[in-house]
Amino acid sequence: MIVAIDGPAASGKGTLARRIAAHYGLPCLDTGLLYRGVGRIMLDRGFDLANVAIAAAIAENLDLADLDPDRLRDRATGEAASVVAAHGPVRSALLDLQRAFAGQPGGAVLDGRDIGTVIAPSAEVKIFVTASPAERARRRFRELVGRGDLADTAEAEAAVLADIQKRDERDSSRADAPLVVAPGATVLDTTDLGPDAAFAAALALVEAVRGPARP
Ligand code: CDP
Repeated sequence: MIVAIDGPAASGKGTLARRIAAHYGLPCLDTGLLYRGVGRIMLDRGFDLANVAIAAAIAENLDLADLDPDRLRDRATGEAASVVAAHGPVRSALLDLQRAFAGQPGGAVLDGRDIGTVIAPSAEVKIFVTASPAERARRRFRELVGRGDLADTAEAEAAVLADIQKRDERDSSRADAPLVVAPGATVLDTTDLGPDAAFAAALALVEAVRGPARP
């Protein structure tokens, strides 16, 4: 079974993907990490994020094993990821790796922006996780303050909301694999759902397809 979880920034799709994967004993891939990895290398080496050829070459040589999620969750990396993710050749370079992950015997859970549309259009379960921009900004702000990346001020929270709106706009309007609700996907709005309620709702969607997990 392939479970495809897509959605905008800070919608909670990563947490849901990990919990669903753990529940069913499936491997899980946070595909945002791939784009974050490319963005981070571009920043570290001082390359212009608009340089498609260099970004694509980095994507081509990216090794999943080298990606450290803790180093890639900061604001600057998220912003850089969104810029390089709009380059078609970067997306193509990362396609095989993601499709191979999705195609593992026994299945997999993947989260991102284009899992249900491009990476695994035949996924048995497709969930589009979303929440209001203000709620997503609040969650991301809390995460960044918790990591010590941001001061706990109203100005900083407003800056995170602005980041999220800019990223939503860029991710939704790009020509290649834009963020859209995939055909056959169920929209799960978590604006008013805590993590456990969101997980229960997602699980109900998976179980409607697969039946309860066997002990
Ligand atoms: O956690 P958050 O939603 O903020 O970001 P992420 O899932 O780590 O993705 C970072 C950026 O990578 C997004 O803003 C997208 O531009 C891009 N991305 C993508 O284009 N396609 C994917 N399958 C996953 C991420």
